[in-house]
Amino acid sequence: MKKVLLVAATVAMSMGSFSVQADGAGMYNALGCVGCHGANGAGASAPKLAGKDAAFLVKQLKDFQSGARKDPTMNAMAPMALGHEQAIADFLAGQ
Ligand code: HEC
Repeated sequence: MKKVLLVAATVAMSMGSFSVQADGAGMYNALGCVGCHGANGAGASAPKLAGKDAAFLVKQLKDFQSGARKDPTMNAMAPMALGHEQAIADFLAGQ
Protein backbone atom coordinates (compact mmCIF):
# COMPACT_ATOMS: atom_id res chain seq x y z
CA MET A 1 0.00 0.00 0.00
CA LYS A 2 2.76 2.41 0.98
CA LYS A 3 4.57 1.61 -2.23
CA VAL A 4 1.48 2.37 -4.32
CA LEU A 5 1.03 5.74 -2.62
CA LEU A 6 4.67 6.56 -3.13
CA VAL A 7 4.42 5.79 -6.84
CA ALA A 8 1.22 7.85 -7.13
CA ALA A 9 2.91 10.79 -5.38
CA THR A 10 5.94 10.52 -7.62
CA VAL A 11 3.79 10.49 -10.75
CA ALA A 12 1.74 13.44 -9.50
CA MET A 13 4.91 15.43 -8.80
CA SER A 14 6.42 14.68 -12.16
CA MET A 15 3.18 15.86 -13.77
CA GLY A 16 3.61 19.14 -11.95
CA SER A 17 0.44 19.04 -9.90
CA PHE A 18 2.38 19.88 -6.74
CA SER A 19 3.69 23.12 -8.18
CA VAL A 20 0.29 24.27 -9.41
CA GLN A 21 0.22 27.14 -6.90
CA ALA A 22 2.89 28.92 -8.90
CA ASP A 23 0.54 29.54 -11.82
CA GLY A 24 -2.46 31.82 -12.14
CA ALA A 25 -5.12 29.17 -11.75
CA GLY A 26 -3.39 27.74 -8.69
CA MET A 27 -2.98 31.16 -7.09
CA TYR A 28 -6.59 32.08 -7.83
CA ASN A 29 -7.78 28.97 -5.99
CA ALA A 30 -5.14 28.93 -3.23
CA LEU A 31 -5.72 32.57 -2.25
CA GLY A 32 -9.46 31.98 -1.93
CA CYS A 33 -10.53 34.28 -4.79
CA VAL A 34 -12.59 31.33 -5.98
CA GLY A 35 -14.74 31.53 -2.83
CA CYS A 36 -16.34 34.79 -3.93
CA HIS A 37 -15.64 35.06 -7.66
CA GLY A 38 -16.61 31.47 -8.43
CA ALA A 39 -14.94 28.63 -10.31
CA ASN A 40 -12.63 30.00 -13.02
CA GLY A 41 -13.92 33.51 -12.27
CA ALA A 42 -17.40 32.74 -13.55
CA GLY A 43 -18.90 34.97 -10.86
CA ALA A 44 -20.73 34.12 -7.63
CA SER A 45 -21.24 36.46 -4.66
CA ALA A 46 -18.60 38.70 -6.29
CA PRO A 47 -18.47 39.97 -9.89
CA LYS A 48 -17.53 37.78 -12.80
CA LEU A 49 -13.85 38.06 -13.74
CA ALA A 50 -13.67 35.45 -16.50
CA GLY A 51 -12.94 36.82 -19.95
CA LYS A 52 -12.10 40.34 -18.75
CA ASP A 53 -9.07 42.06 -20.21
CA ALA A 54 -5.88 41.03 -18.38
CA ALA A 55 -4.51 44.59 -18.28
CA PHE A 56 -7.80 45.80 -16.77
CA LEU A 57 -7.69 43.07 -14.10
CA VAL A 58 -4.05 43.83 -13.19
CA LYS A 59 -4.92 47.54 -12.87
CA GLN A 60 -7.89 46.80 -10.59
CA LEU A 61 -5.74 44.62 -8.32
CA LYS A 62 -3.02 47.29 -8.10
CA ASP A 63 -5.64 49.97 -7.45
CA PHE A 64 -7.15 47.87 -4.66
CA GLN A 65 -3.64 47.38 -3.23
CA SER A 66 -2.84 51.09 -3.28
CA GLY A 67 -6.29 52.11 -2.13
CA ALA A 68 -6.95 54.09 -5.32
CA ARG A 69 -9.99 51.85 -5.72
CA LYS A 70 -11.90 51.38 -2.49
CA ASP A 71 -13.71 48.24 -1.46
CA PRO A 72 -13.10 46.89 2.07
CA THR A 73 -13.09 43.27 0.92
CA MET A 74 -10.80 43.71 -2.07
CA ASN A 75 -8.53 46.16 -0.24
CA ALA A 76 -7.90 43.25 2.16
CA MET A 77 -7.68 40.54 -0.53
CA ALA A 78 -5.61 42.22 -3.25
CA PRO A 79 -2.34 42.43 -1.26
CA MET A 80 -2.31 38.62 -1.11
CA ALA A 81 -1.97 38.58 -4.90
CA LEU A 82 1.18 40.75 -4.74
CA GLY A 83 3.63 39.61 -7.40
CA HIS A 84 1.05 37.30 -8.99
CA GLU A 85 -1.32 39.91 -10.45
CA GLN A 86 -0.32 39.22 -14.05
CA ALA A 87 -0.47 35.43 -13.74
CA ILE A 88 -3.90 35.52 -12.14
CA ALA A 89 -5.17 38.10 -14.67
CA ASP A 90 -3.85 36.05 -17.61
CA PHE A 91 -5.61 32.97 -16.26
CA LEU A 92 -8.91 34.82 -15.80
CA ALA A 93 -8.74 36.59 -19.17
CA GLY A 94 -8.40 33.19 -20.82
CA GLN A 95 -11.57 31.77 -19.24
C1 HEC B 1 -14.75 37.79 0.29
C2 HEC B 1 -15.11 37.89 -1.13
C3 HEC B 1 -13.99 38.17 -2.13
C4 HEC B 1 -12.79 37.54 -2.25
C5 HEC B 1 -12.24 36.39 -1.41
C6 HEC B 1 -12.12 38.13 -3.39
N1 HEC B 1 -12.89 39.09 -3.94
FE1 HEC B 1 -12.44 40.20 -5.61
N2 HEC B 1 -14.14 41.27 -5.35
C7 HEC B 1 -15.08 41.06 -4.38
C8 HEC B 1 -16.12 42.07 -4.49
C9 HEC B 1 -17.35 42.19 -3.60
C10 HEC B 1 -15.77 42.90 -5.59
C11 HEC B 1 -16.52 44.13 -6.12
C12 HEC B 1 -15.90 45.33 -5.47
C13 HEC B 1 -16.53 46.63 -5.93
O1 HEC B 1 -17.76 46.69 -6.05
O2 HEC B 1 -15.78 47.60 -6.14
C14 HEC B 1 -14.52 42.35 -6.12
C15 HEC B 1 -13.85 42.88 -7.21
C16 HEC B 1 -12.72 42.33 -7.79
C17 HEC B 1 -12.09 42.79 -9.01
C18 HEC B 1 -12.57 43.94 -9.88
C19 HEC B 1 -13.54 43.40 -10.91
C20 HEC B 1 -14.09 44.47 -11.84
O3 HEC B 1 -14.75 44.08 -12.81
O4 HEC B 1 -13.88 45.67 -11.61
C21 HEC B 1 -11.01 41.99 -9.23
C22 HEC B 1 -10.05 42.08 -10.39
C23 HEC B 1 -10.97 41.03 -8.16
N3 HEC B 1 -12.03 41.26 -7.30
C24 HEC B 1 -10.02 40.04 -8.05
C25 HEC B 1 -9.91 39.19 -6.94
C26 HEC B 1 -8.80 38.30 -6.73
C27 HEC B 1 -7.63 38.08 -7.69
C28 HEC B 1 -9.02 37.68 -5.54
C29 HEC B 1 -8.10 36.73 -4.82
C30 HEC B 1 -6.78 37.28 -4.46
C31 HEC B 1 -10.28 38.18 -5.02
N4 HEC B 1 -10.77 39.10 -5.89
C32 HEC B 1 -10.87 37.75 -3.84
C33 HEC B 1 -15.08 40.05 -3.42
C34 HEC B 1 -14.05 39.17 -3.20
